[in-house]
Amino acid sequence: MSQTGPTREALQSANIERRLEEALTLEAHELAGVPEVKVEHSVRRGEADVLIELAGVTQRYAGEGGRQGRVALEAVNLRIFKGEFVCLVGPSGCGKSTILNLIAGFMQPSEGRVLYKGRPIAGPGPDRAVMFQDHALFPWLTVQRNVEFGLKMANRHERQIRKKVARNYLAMVNMAGHEREYPHQLSGGMRQRVALARSLALESDVLLMDEPFSALDPTTRDMLHEQLQRIWMETKKTIVFVTHSLKEAIRLADRIVLMGTNPGRVRREIAVDIARPRELNSLALDEINIVLRRELQNEHRPQLPLEMPGLEFNI
Ligand SMILES: Nc1ncnc2c1ncn2[C@@H]1O[C@H](COP(=O)(O)OP(=O)(O)OP(=O)(O)O)[C@@H](O)[C@H]1O
Ligand SMILES: [Mg+2]
Repeated sequence: MSQTGPTREALQSANIERRLEEALTLEAHELAGVPEVKVEHSVRRGEADVLIELAGVTQRYAGEGGRQGRVALEAVNLRIFKGEFVCLVGPSGCGKSTILNLIAGFMQPSEGRVLYKGRPIAGPGPDRAVMFQDHALFPWLTVQRNVEFGLKMANRHERQIRKKVARNYLAMVNMAGHEREYPHQLSGGMRQRVALARSLALESDVLLMDEPFSALDPTTRDMLHEQLQRIWMETKKTIVFVTHSLKEAIRLADRIVLMGTNPGRVRREIAVDIARPRELNSLALDEINIVLRRELQNEHRPQLPLEMPGLEFNI
């Protein structure tokens, strides 16, 4: 290992800590009724770099059988820049999946606007691929055919080209050699890798990921984090990634969007500028995790345990 590594990492981590402290000093605004606190983004980006924008988004779900509806999101403002890796983190029910579904175009906001390249999102499109926690592979199709099927549905390429593209992306997620196998012959981690290949093969500008690795064991998750980091660095996609795990978010994100419940809203945004590729057991990762955990626990103590179900501090 090089001698300069630890020093640089320590400096980066001190920098993150300083900015987190700055964020904390803004707490007074929150108390004064301004819920959204923003940390300066590490790379200043202009209007032209905004790819996705939620402007004043409120989302209500209708209640069933005459019961009162639920406000899943209230007055959410969020900007996602081109090529950014953003993680949405927050307790269960704070509206993370709702945000993803809005960006995917699966539904329209009750109030406010959801924009892609400055235009309202009217529905799903090939520019935004989605990957869910459940791999949703077709059990009757081989690994290769599952990836090809995604391409076919999206009307991408001729059959021969589809074959080649599918093989390339399977190789990218280290699944070369498994093309002829069926999903039931694979481990959970392998199935998620096929699902990842299927999403990547669409070559969309945006990848929306809803807790894609949460059902996996820590070792497999670690490996997939490594692969996803590498793929993101190679492809420069814009990724919006939902997770319950703060440490997973710190490992992957350029920016963490912390959400709160009742109603769902953005509580805070934190830029993470630790150099990549990031190791799971690195000093910088641990330090930022400790600082954030302390902050979150302080912030949520009055509501514990009600406010925090499902928010993990470790992976
Ligand atoms: N189709 C729906 N109909 C009614 N209520 C819904 C619907 N989908 C979500 N909700 C409600 O909206 C709120 C936000 O849900 P959402 O699934 O976005 O939360 P989440 O942050 O993704 O939670 P989790 O971490 O558990 O996945 C929750 O209170 C949920 O019960
Ligand atoms: Mg969810």
